[in-house]
Amino acid sequence: MWNDDYKIGIENIDVEHQYIFSKINLIRRLKETNKLSTENIFNALLDLKEYTIIHFSEEEEYMKEINYPKYTEHCAIHRSLENILDQRIQEIIRFPEYFSVDEFISFISMWWSFHICNQDRKIAAYKSKLKIS
Ligand SMILES: [Fe+2]
Repeated sequence: MWNDDYKIGIENIDVEHQYIFSKINLIRRLKETNKLSTENIFNALLDLKEYTIIHFSEEEEYMKEINYPKYTEHCAIHRSLENILDQRIQEIIRFPEYFSVDEFISFISMWWSFHICNQDRKIAAYKSKLKIS
């Protein structure tokens, strides 16, 4: 669930993060409304992955613009989530009966809250230091 504490103070990035949480909510809604067909879960995850890639590339552009010193490490973390999402999508295709939506929702929500609070916040902290100096 989105929480205003996740705002890092860079407007475009905050809006995109909220949009990611709204996509996670759509998956939660599928469960609540009993629409958990393999096709619906597959489409929802694909949609989440596609938007995640768009968001990461925007955030990476921003890091480049401000010469963020931890750019490479940060991009590697992004690539690792993209790989996990690819794997999860493969699992839905190959073993749909073993795919746990609850487990996925709790994993992805925790991933994002951790990433925003621990990694993305550092981009904002670096940017605000630039303004002062
Ligand atoms: Fe990030």
